[in-house]
Amino acid sequence: MSSRISKYWLGLDVGTGGSRALLVDAGGRVTHAFTAPHREMHMARPLWAEQDPDDWWRACQAAIRGVLLQSGIDGSSVAGIGLTGQMHGLVLLDEKHEVIRPALIWCDQRSQKQVDFVNAKLGTDTILSSIANPVLTGFTLPKLLWVRDNEPESYARLRKILLPKDYPRFKLTGEFATDVSDASGTSLFDVANRKWSDAMVSGLGLDRSILPDAFESSDLAGWVSAEAAKSTGLSPGTPVVAGAGDQAASAVGNGIVEPGTVSCTLGTSGVVFAYLEKPEYDPQGRVHTFCHAIPNVWHVMGVTQGAGLSLQWFRNRFAPDIAYDDLTAEATLSHAGSDGLFWLPYLMGERTPHLDANARAAWVGLTARHTRADLTRSVLEGVCYSLRDGLEIIAALGANPSLVRLSGGGAKSPFWQQLFADVFRQKVVTLATQEGSAYGAALLAMVGTGEYSSAVDVCSVAIKEVDTKNPQPKVSAFYQQRYEIYRSLYPALKSAFGAIAGLDG
Ligand code: XUL
Repeated sequence: MSSRISKYWLGLDVGTGGSRALLVDAGGRVTHAFTAPHREMHMARPLWAEQDPDDWWRACQAAIRGVLLQSGIDGSSVAGIGLTGQMHGLVLLDEKHEVIRPALIWCDQRSQKQVDFVNAKLGTDTILSSIANPVLTGFTLPKLLWVRDNEPESYARLRKILLPKDYPRFKLTGEFATDVSDASGTSLFDVANRKWSDAMVSGLGLDRSILPDAFESSDLAGWVSAEAAKSTGLSPGTPVVAGAGDQAASAVGNGIVEPGTVSCTLGTSGVVFAYLEKPEYDPQGRVHTFCHAIPNVWHVMGVTQGAGLSLQWFRNRFAPDIAYDDLTAEATLSHAGSDGLFWLPYLMGERTPHLDANARAAWVGLTARHTRADLTRSVLEGVCYSLRDGLEIIAALGANPSLVRLSGGGAKSPFWQQLFADVFRQKVVTLATQEGSAYGAALLAMVGTGEYSSAVDVCSVAIKEVDTKNPQPKVSAFYQQRYEIYRSLYPALKSAFGAIAGLDG
């Protein structure tokens, strides 16, 4: 490690709600952070979700200027930048490198017809062996084919596609680039061999030149241009590493950089994430196998679409005047198992384990005895059961954890932490820095600029566990029985969910 102390690394996260810039010192400590909100995503139809890439760039510039101003740190003290952001989106650029239409983002689900087309054309076996994952409606490729099918004038102008974080990168450096972890979520990337997939690209008649170059996450992929330096306060020539998709970057920020390490991140969605030494994949495609932000390493993740969202939705709709802490404190008045009440958290359909956009949320087991405390507790328990589904699948792929590192908004509640330990039947630990993806991106920049030799090296200095919750044997055994009941509910309701979804159209 270098002894110079006046250098900082900047992590920049192009999220859904906003862009966040943070500064990290040579010891891996976060010194300052600044978030600039995005305009709300545009949902012209129920399954559509779009954002304006130029709004992301506006917010990125504001966040960088904001963090430099707030810290009083001169742009010349920033030794390197790491980018991260929401995954799976589609930015389309024309020959003048201008945005052709708003980006279709990760939660946009309009492309089922295009998924069916790809499956019929290439066959699911070829797809799984080419990209280690099934093609899903949320991923980039079917979105691109939707534009090809529905907006031929836009498609005819297309010269380059980019993932969300890679548009601000282009504005910052002038380079078209991405990284292997984010590229993994496009359905166009050969995850095992860490390169664009010929089988997918040529098999679908796409032009390889529309794709950016894909780098390993800590590789240098450009330098801040003179123009971007003027609008951000950074110095021209500051190195920018390739960075990572938000989940892989967040995993670096949680120290998931060695075999046997597993994290659970509770944002709007919830993700269980495990380090993989080989690109093992679930033959049913229920979890995603993607490249990790570390060379020659992969990861597997299970995604619950409505994790933090379940609690947020419940509070906003039914208890808007109550603070989250007070609501979860009230849940402790209920008992383990919420008096026989179960919450299925499928507010936005579900990825892991059902891969079912038609799945719907439900309370099962309601009686006239139930109170708000029971409802709240059942929501917290339902999210734990759903993430346990993901944990089971990734454990079966060989990622056997000795503990789970919990992060994100929900991780702040000691009550929810203990519930996770009991439902997961695992030791659950929380970390000193809860900054997630922007932090991981800054750590990758430290590796890329040579301050540390590897992600393992920087994490050994930067990551500190601060709290541990152990599973309580009796409570865990109780929750095991309840989890078995929870698992029986989706299959019992699946066809009704399909019928209900049919009513939407
Ligand atoms: C990962 C995923 C989310 C988005 C939005 O598969 O869909 O993490 O990147 O944050």
